[in-house]
Amino acid sequence: MDNFVFHNPVKLLFGKGQIAALGREISSGARVLLAYGGGSIKANGVHGQVVAALRAAGHPFVEFGGIEPNPRYETLMRAVALARAEKLDFVLAVGGGSVADGCKFIAAAIPFAGEPWDILARHAKVEAAAGLGVVLTLPATGSEMNAYAVISREATREKLAFGSPLVTPKFSVLDPETTFSLPARQLGNGIVDAFVHVLEQYLTVTGASPLNDRLAEAVMTTLVEVAPRAMAVPPDYAARADLMWCATMALNGLIGQGVPQDWATHYIGHELTALTGIDHARTLAAVWPGVVAVRRQAKRAKLLQFAARVWGLSEADEETRIDQAIARTRAFFDSVGVPTGLAAYGVAADIPEIIAGRLEARGALPLGEDGGVDAAMVRRILDAA
Ligand code: NZQ
Ligand code: ZN
Repeated sequence: MDNFVFHNPVKLLFGKGQIAALGREISSGARVLLAYGGGSIKANGVHGQVVAALRAAGHPFVEFGGIEPNPRYETLMRAVALARAEKLDFVLAVGGGSVADGCKFIAAAIPFAGEPWDILARHAKVEAAAGLGVVLTLPATGSEMNAYAVISREATREKLAFGSPLVTPKFSVLDPETTFSLPARQLGNGIVDAFVHVLEQYLTVTGASPLNDRLAEAVMTTLVEVAPRAMAVPPDYAARADLMWCATMALNGLIGQGVPQDWATHYIGHELTALTGIDHARTLAAVWPGVVAVRRQAKRAKLLQFAARVWGLSEADEETRIDQAIARTRAFFDSVGVPTGLAAYGVAADIPEIIAGRLEARGALPLGEDGGVDAAMVRRILDAA
């Protein structure tokens, strides 16, 4: 295990009714930007609960709606202008990963002296940020308990990530009942995103940390176990609670401490979303079969462990077990309505070339736990996907 420093200060308020308690988590005197997406929180009553909690605690607030999926820099800068004009110093994100991520960028951009896009494009250091709290309504990204955000720029069709401890939420409210209004498509997306987050941190080498391996396997086997009930209509509170907790645990830093991590599927997937608009989780399901096909030898020992411990495969010869584990994973994604493989998404034939070129041009390569994924391999992965 490599050395690590792990500090995750996010206070979680988990369970039904917890939105009512959020007022206490914001310091008195704070001026709040209440930011949300396209309106789901108005339709499902979450907006009303948040407004009631802010009013009960006496926090002044200004609203900003319209943060889109794959939140756009252009939109977020309008929120930054509003926050600066109204002298707001606390951002309350109410929505899915896109709203949470968008609010991380807003929080960092409010006091930023230069061009805030540099935080993403030039890794400009975040020296200060407005306070941030999250009311999560879509279990998927883990953004509610991590320091990262992924932001898109419409003008250049870029989708870039940044991270800073200063944009780690002070608190996040996880009320499984807020997920009751989710369409099946977003539930399936969330399950796949969380599962692939674990794979990025787990499906590398064996022996780096037996504990992290088992924590990762626990998240994956729980996701497989609860997925059918989590997708069920009418919604099952217990299953939604398990899903929400799994998605947070998948990317709050815990299972990745001190071990090699991959993230090739995500880097390639982000380019695919930037170019085509395909949902984040769907790009992962599109790309992952290619990653695992091309990187099969590098990941061989871990694939066998994954086959045995997550899918209970121990009978056939090793190659067959690996094939079966990959097939079972793809079937699982399919079972929650997320098709696997690039062909399912009908992307243009020149996409592999364009994505490899873009990743290379911005210095994002090589990828993979061993730095083994160069531009030529990105093309092979997409061809194999
Ligand atoms: O905008 P509204 O009206 O709220 O509707 C949203 C949106 O249309 C809807 N929705 C959310 N909660 C709902 C709901 N509809 C009904 N009931 C509810 N309770 O769902 C749609 C998708 O929302 P979005 O926030 O875009 O989805 P998700 O949570 O999957 O977030 C995806 C974004 O997170 C980034 C992705 O790249 C993508 O931009 N990621 C962030 C990560 C991080 N910060 O660590 C890691 C991830 O790998 C990922 O890259
Ligand atoms: Zn993801």
